[in-house]
Amino acid sequence: MIDTTKTKTKNQNNQNIEMIETFKKDVKQGLESNPKTLSSKYFYNKIGDALFVEIMNLPEYYLTRSELDIFQNKTQDLIDAFQIKTDSHFDLIELGAGDGLKTKELLKALDQQNYTFDYLPIDISSNALQLLEKDLSKTLPNVSVKKQQGDYFEILASLKNSSKPKVILFLGSNIGNMNDEKAAKFIYNLGVNLKPRDKLLLGVDLIKSEAIVLPAYNDGKGVTEKFNLNLLQRINDELSANFNLETFKHQPEYNEAEGIAKSYIVSTEQQTVTINALETSYTFEAGEKIHTEISRKYNDALIKKIIANTDFTLETKILDSKAYFADYILTRH
Ligand code: AVJ
Repeated sequence: MIDTTKTKTKNQNNQNIEMIETFKKDVKQGLESNPKTLSSKYFYNKIGDALFVEIMNLPEYYLTRSELDIFQNKTQDLIDAFQIKTDSHFDLIELGAGDGLKTKELLKALDQQNYTFDYLPIDISSNALQLLEKDLSKTLPNVSVKKQQGDYFEILASLKNSSKPKVILFLGSNIGNMNDEKAAKFIYNLGVNLKPRDKLLLGVDLIKSEAIVLPAYNDGKGVTEKFNLNLLQRINDELSANFNLETFKHQPEYNEAEGIAKSYIVSTEQQTVTINALETSYTFEAGEKIHTEISRKYNDALIKKIIANTDFTLETKILDSKAYFADYILTRH
């Protein structure tokens, strides 16, 4: 087996050291909480990114197909909601670059209708941005792509003084990993960096029955289980721990009244795990749960409540053909 800890240490720059320190602090705090928690933001290392791509292609994971349906079949509704004239230059900014599957549908239509705009995908991963840029240079050579590597809010702040109107895309129900209070703060902070009449396109999964939602987080191939347990693997690799992945299992839960899918890792037996980087051992009871993720589902009332104390007004709501998913267009007032 290759010792990835050692190769990484060799190449570590300051940013990496800082990230490891934050990871250590968060893992310690989470495992010392009652009930135990680990943050879903740590799912996304190289293995986690690849597993998430696999999730997006699973038959049970309807979210991707639902929002793609909107981008393919309600493209004109989206564009009309932006309220932008073809002769005024605007910036189309996407938070989280992704693979561009959905956004390409929109870019294609804007290009065909002779809109003048730059597409600015923002992502923390320069690798993801490079892949997207390369793809777009082939598939949509006319679209001006200005990739932005870094933190969403730092980049938005740097763009604040531009006189061009802005449309921000935050797709895929990515906001659903935040509790409502955090989501409200996040949207408020987007508003801080925008000007009146700028737009926010917020893509969210809607509250629906357990029969549809739960399988999306409990797929037959076990990809979601791998994705969840990869958190423990990551602690093993990066913090030199000895989690035995065979003695932990993935457990999703959803209750329609609350509208939140929750993922847990359950210890299948009583055991003690040592995390060398923390110089600490943690005991897990048989059946004890570690909470790892929330995937919030929404309705109009929730969205209205979340944006109530932000500088946004709810303008338009665009649904897919099954009404599983919504793209809300909010206007900065
Ligand atoms: C990327 C946050 C939208 O919560 O549905 C997928 C992540 N977790 N399967 C979601 C995820 C488990 C996903 N988001």
